[in-house]
Amino acid sequence: MKLTIPKYLKGFPRNYYGNKARLMNHIFAVIPKHAKVFIDLFGGAMVTGYSAKRMLGVKVITNDILRYSYLKGKVFIANNGTLLSDEDLKMLCAPNARKGISARKLYGHIFGKKNATFIDNWTANIPKLSDPIKRDIAVLIPIICTNKHFRFAATHFSSNEMPTGGMQLWEVDLQEDVIRYAKEILPKLVCDNGKDNEVYNQDSVELLNKVKGDVLYVDSPYVCRGSRYEDNYSFWDDISKVLTNKADEIGNRYDGKCVTIPYTDFTTRASSLLGFTEILKRAKHIPLVIFSYNTTSDIAVEEIANIANVYGRTVTTQSIKYHRPITNKANNRDTNEVLIVCSNDPNYKPTFYNPEPEPPTVPTKAPHGTKEWAKSNINCCQGCSNDCQYCYAKSFAIRFDRSTPKSWKNIQIRKEVLSKKFNKRSGTIMFPTSHDIVPENVDACIKVLKSILSTGNKVLIVSKPNFKCIKKLCSELKEYRKQILFRFTIGSANNKTLKYWEPGAPSFQERLNALKYAHKQGFKTSLSCEPMLDGNIHEVIRKCRPFVTDSIWLGLANKLRQALSINVPGDKKIQKRATELIELQDDDFVQKLYKTYKNDSLIKWKDSLKKRLGLEQPTERGLDV
Ligand SMILES: C[S@@+](CC[C@H](N)C(=O)[O-])C[C@H]1O[C@@H](n2cnc3c(N)ncnc32)[C@H](O)[C@@H]1O
Ligand code: SF4
Repeated sequence: MKLTIPKYLKGFPRNYYGNKARLMNHIFAVIPKHAKVFIDLFGGAMVTGYSAKRMLGVKVITNDILRYSYLKGKVFIANNGTLLSDEDLKMLCAPNARKGISARKLYGHIFGKKNATFIDNWTANIPKLSDPIKRDIAVLIPIICTNKHFRFAATHFSSNEMPTGGMQLWEVDLQEDVIRYAKEILPKLVCDNGKDNEVYNQDSVELLNKVKGDVLYVDSPYVCRGSRYEDNYSFWDDISKVLTNKADEIGNRYDGKCVTIPYTDFTTRASSLLGFTEILKRAKHIPLVIFSYNTTSDIAVEEIANIANVYGRTVTTQSIKYHRPITNKANNRDTNEVLIVCSNDPNYKPTFYNPEPEPPTVPTKAPHGTKEWAKSNINCCQGCSNDCQYCYAKSFAIRFDRSTPKSWKNIQIRKEVLSKKFNKRSGTIMFPTSHDIVPENVDACIKVLKSILSTGNKVLIVSKPNFKCIKKLCSELKEYRKQILFRFTIGSANNKTLKYWEPGAPSFQERLNALKYAHKQGFKTSLSCEPMLDGNIHEVIRKCRPFVTDSIWLGLANKLRQALSINVPGDKKIQKRATELIELQDDDFVQKLYKTYKNDSLIKWKDSLKKRLGLEQPTERGLDV
């Protein structure tokens, strides 16, 4: 069953692990119609409490130990209608010489000077808002707008003091984002359910002594890797300190720790089991307790059910297949999320959500990167001796601890792929996408290619071509010529430029010779000028065009600065070169390029340029258009 995110959550900040946006239908189905007060004990992203407020009309009581979650609760759940006016926004953006510790000093390297100055002015102006809810909104929006640019909400710092994944906001206009969020998105999300909703920043177990309700929803962290929210999300709590002028309380801003109230730890087995026992003991006055628990955890669903039985509850469960990041010992992404419904009524039978399977839908998001060219891809190595500075595969491998900036250039052949049989797949297969074909691995690549081609597959072979390797490929794969399209990457005709960005890759002349050779051998050929590495791609096009039968793709460097901050950490010179390249390829450059080649049937525009030029984007993978 496909679990979808409800439409009303569009724009609601969900960049938070463990949020249950996809399970709303399941959770709501087990809540009795007559329920009046819903308690969400572990609010987290506040998705569940917000959804209950909006869709069930019940009074919502929510809670979390983290300041970031607490703030969200105050703005989206307790708040029944307050927004920031145009005047408030104008006042908040006005310059204000601020005393105290500034965002510029603490996080200038992450935000960039302009954004950090904006935050400092904004922070200094927040106390001028007389309404406390408005002040909370003013603190929260810059955090949401920053968080949205971080691919992973869990944030740690590397030795060069950059957040995980080298995320930064230098190219973002934070002020513009904040104003847009305040004016266009927040008004669509803030709603009034006519109830005095409550929000707490307390230990869940302690809170149960104070609150009353009909339904208690318990979605604690699981006992598994990566579940310590208080460590993984400390950056967001620290930013909230900056925005509330309490930056001096942060302590070490890179230590992945936030200052919380004392709390029960639900990330270890022993204390979590004690925590559940306490919750069930203290929740006797609440008729229905619903746990959301995942089979990835070191505590089994049956153990929780047993505790509930001890406290006199009748337990019914529903298992829902759930795709999660790998966090368990078994390295398994396909887990089950289980709703453990514990009622005081021995005859209680919950209605579970069980929709008809949905018909398959056509993906609407425009495919990008390799998906624009091919439906699927195959690789047989890890690492690449070309060692391109901007390499996305490299930064990905470093981020997931599979490689280091230095070791990436050492190639490891994945033997298990060499013996694999590949069935016929629908659509073109791209080979390779995360390494290249070089003398060291050419035999392995040929073996894999033969196995792919022998079952009738069409293959797009993408390479910064080494002449000898292409010669070998042409001779070994000649019987499959009709199924192959070569795509050679050449981002500049200038060897100095190529050497700088792609230190281990062949020269321009060698790549051109390889292209000529493949063309002469009767293979279909195409060119990828992505990323264009200077302002003069015309020379590449002019020199290569006679040997291209299919297409010449033009594209910009995607997320260049981010990739560089991971691949060559701390190298300011290369960041400067990147800035120069990005500035060179500005709108004016892009428009001129388009004007020159718009009627050239050989030229195709990669997603990065299609977006900049406002051209129609394909809706299906692998159309190669
Ligand atoms: C799995 S998340 C909840 C996600 C939430 N149901 C949603 O859909 O957005 C668990 C949350 O529990 C919070 N937490 C952990 N220990 C806690 C405790 N002892 N008391 C209160 N909250 C706690 C964490 O900060 C985290 O935000
Ligand atoms: S050739 Fe491709 S895979 Fe190899 S380093 Fe360069 S960009 Fe990365």
